[in-house]
Amino acid sequence: MQIDLSGRTALVTGSTQGIGYAIAVGLARAGARVAVNGRSVERVTAAVDRVRADSGNDDVIAAVGDLATEEGAAAVLEAVPTVDILINNLGIFGTAAPLEIDDAEWRRYFEVNVLSAVRLIRAYLPGMTEQGWGRILNLASDSAVVIPAEMIHYGMTKTALLAVSRGFAKEAAGTGVTVNSVIAGPTHTGGVEDFVRELVGNKLPWDEAQREFMIKHRPQSLIQRLIEPEEIANMVVYLSSSYASATTGGALRVDGGYVDSILP
Ligand SMILES: NC(=O)c1ccc[n+]([C@@H]2O[C@H](COP(=O)([O-])OP(=O)(O)OC[C@H]3O[C@@H](n4cnc5c(N)ncnc54)[C@H](OP(=O)(O)O)[C@@H]3O)[C@@H](O)[C@H]2O)c1
Repeated sequence: MQIDLSGRTALVTGSTQGIGYAIAVGLARAGARVAVNGRSVERVTAAVDRVRADSGNDDVIAAVGDLATEEGAAAVLEAVPTVDILINNLGIFGTAAPLEIDDAEWRRYFEVNVLSAVRLIRAYLPGMTEQGWGRILNLASDSAVVIPAEMIHYGMTKTALLAVSRGFAKEAAGTGVTVNSVIAGPTHTGGVEDFVRELVGNKLPWDEAQREFMIKHRPQSLIQRLIEPEEIANMVVYLSSSYASATTGGALRVDGGYVDSILP
């Protein structure tokens, strides 16, 4: 299967680092024109240069904006008025004692992780349905299904994204536009390195810290290691292609077998 996305424009939210960055590189390697998003001009410009170098595709553009806000979304829509492929990857996560998460924090998680995606879907879906082709992918998490006690607010947003994906897939029924979510499992990114350190401390070297984290906090993982961002990107590139035309309204797992279930 040769995936060729030339002629397609893709926006990857939150793509200056981590999984979003790997997705941007994967889509650019497949020939898509990719828009890189983050909150600052400096970080986005640097990431655009890196995506060009890592993918060998120069058609990479900047889409700067804080997608947790309406103004930020407007700036991104101005930089990239239409897309064929929308990857709602942006997401924040952290631990908190359940009874200590206040109203403002619940709202912040909802606005950054869910509303940011919904706003962009509302903006881009009509153009996709009009042209009869489009791909929308929302990055969910194992935490959407197996809610960690120390991350209820995060889990809530990821479960919500599963609902958002299914619902908008129905809205796009019969149009050639597919909408899916990708359930990523524990992945080796900078953000997760910090998270692992939060839970197991700074004393151990990274390999041992990672092993201890998996054994103590993610023992259900069948691959018994963190997932590499490129492994998530591979699924996203496939789902973004014409080969995935009969997959919509679903939740696809790249979780290392973490979620103990046969069906997604
Ligand atoms: N890592 C994991 O183990 C894991 C597991 C399951 C699911 N996921 C999901 O995968 C996605 C990516 O995770 P990650 O670990 O790769 O994240 P990450 O390393 O923390 O990167 C977050 C990205 O989002 C950008 N960003 C943050 N707030 C933003 C905002 N308000 N507007 C625009 N951009 C913003 C950051 O860019 P700037 O700082 O440059 O603005 C950065 O590029 C998330 O949805 C996460 O929930 C991750």
